[in-house]
Amino acid sequence: MSHKLEEARIYEAREGAAIPAHDRPLFHLTPRTGWMNDPNGFCYYQGAYHLFYQYYPYDTVWGPMHWGHAVTTDLLHWDYRPCALAPDTDADAKGCFSGTAVTAPDGKLLLLYTGVQQAGDSPEEVHQLQCLAVGDGTDFVKEAANPVIGTDLLPEGGSAVDFRDPKIWYEDGRYHCVVSTRDAHDQGRILLYESPDARRWTYRTTLDSCRWEYGKMWECPDFFPLEDKQLLLVSPQEMEASPDGEFHPGFGTVALLGRYDKTEARFTREAVQPIDYGTDFYAPQTLLTPDGRRVMVAWMENWATVNEAPRRHKWFGRMTLPRELFLRDGRLCQRPVRELETLWQNTITRRETLDGDAVYEGVAGRRLDLTVTLDAAASPDCRRFTLCFAENDRYRTRVEWSPLYNELLFDRSGCGTRRDIPHLRRLKAAPQNGRLTLRLILDGDCLELFVNDGQRVLSALLDTPAEAEGISLHSEGPLTLELVHHTLH
Ligand code: FRU
Repeated sequence: MSHKLEEARIYEAREGAAIPAHDRPLFHLTPRTGWMNDPNGFCYYQGAYHLFYQYYPYDTVWGPMHWGHAVTTDLLHWDYRPCALAPDTDADAKGCFSGTAVTAPDGKLLLLYTGVQQAGDSPEEVHQLQCLAVGDGTDFVKEAANPVIGTDLLPEGGSAVDFRDPKIWYEDGRYHCVVSTRDAHDQGRILLYESPDARRWTYRTTLDSCRWEYGKMWECPDFFPLEDKQLLLVSPQEMEASPDGEFHPGFGTVALLGRYDKTEARFTREAVQPIDYGTDFYAPQTLLTPDGRRVMVAWMENWATVNEAPRRHKWFGRMTLPRELFLRDGRLCQRPVRELETLWQNTITRRETLDGDAVYEGVAGRRLDLTVTLDAAASPDCRRFTLCFAENDRYRTRVEWSPLYNELLFDRSGCGTRRDIPHLRRLKAAPQNGRLTLRLILDGDCLELFVNDGQRVLSALLDTPAEAEGISLHSEGPLTLELVHHTLH
C-alpha cells in the first residue's frame, strides 16, 4: 500500500470516529470525514452493495481526489470501509476522478476510473485518462500499465483535458465502457470502448452528443437497459434553461431514452427529460440489484453553490436516497427504494376536506415519509394547496400546487439560508386519474419530493435548524385529501 493511501486510511479512521452519529443524516450517506462528491463504483459485490465516492478526507472542500468507500446491505444503513484509492501513481497523481466498478468472471472487483495526470510543465496542464484497479472489495491494486485508455484512444477532436468518468459493464464475454469527452465545438460526447480483458481497449463509436442542446461537457455517463428502452444518463455542465421550463440553467442531469442496437453499437435517441427538478442533484450512477431493480444514487449537492455552503460538520457532501427506476408513459420515473419502508414508525392516516389551514397532531418532524394525495377531481373549487414543512415561527419551506396551472412551486427561501442562491423551482404537476400525490421524504436537511408516484422528483437541501419540525397544510377552497405520515427511525 502506498504511503498516501495508508495515511488517508489512518486519518479517516481517527477523524471519522470523532464524528457523532447525530451529526449526520439518518440514511443519506455522508463522507467518513472531509469532502464528498460524485458516487463512484456503485455495485453489488459479495453479498453487499458497495458505494465509493469522490473524496478528499483532509478538508471539507474539494481537493486531490481519493475514493472513499462504504457498504450496506439495505441501501439505508452504511458502514465505512477504508479509503479505496489515493492519487499515488504517475497516471493519477493529480486525482482519482469518477468511475465505476464491475465484477470480473474470476470474482475480482474491477474499478475503472479517471486518472488525472500532469501533462506539461505547469501544474495546470493536465490530461485525463482511464485507469484500472483490481481488488477484493477492500484493497485494490492499480495496473502497472495504467492508463488502460490513454489519450491516444480519443477519437478525432476529443479533448484530453475533458476525458473522464468511465462507466464499465461486462456483457457477451466482453467489457464495454462509455466515457465522456468534449469535442472541438465544445460539445459533450459519449464514447463507447470495448475490451476483451478490461486492459486492452479499442474505441468503437460515439453514442450521442449534446447536439447544441443540453449543455456543454457531459459528465458522469451511465448507460443501461430499462424495460424496453435503453437509457443514457448524463450530467451536463452549462445547461441553458429550456423555454418550456423543464430544464433549469447550470449543472443539470438529463436522461436520454432510446433504443440500442448492440450489434451496430448504435444508440437512437427518442426522448429527453431532466432526471431531477431540484436544486441539489448531480452525477447519478446506477446498479442492478440481485432482484433485478435498477437503483440510482446521486450526489446531493450542486457545484454552483457548494463552495459557499456552510460547513457545520467535519464532513461535507452527501448522497441522495437510493431510488428505483422504472418507466411509465414513456418517462423515466423514480421511487425511493422499498427498503425505506422498514424504517416506518408511528403511522398516521387522515382523510380530510380542508378549507383553510391545518396542523395535524403527530404529523411533524425532520425524519419522515409523508404522502399527501389530493383528490383534485372531487375538489373543483380548490384554487391553491400549500404544504409547509421544517417549519416554526421563523422558518418554513413550502411546496405549493396550483390546479389552474397544474404547476408545483418549491420555495426554500424561508428555510433559514443566508445565501443568495436559487431557492425556487417550478415543475409541471397535473393530476393523474383525478389525483395528485406528493411524497415528501425528510432526513434532517435532506428533502426529496416525489410527485405522482415518481413521475417527477425534486431533491434539495435545506438550511434549517433541527428544531423547526412543523408541518402545516393550507388550501384556498375546499380540498379533499388523504395524508399518510410515517416517522423514519
Ligand atoms: C462531476 C465531476 C466529474 C469528475 C469529478 C471530480 O461532479 O466533475 O466529472 O470526475 O467530479 O471530482
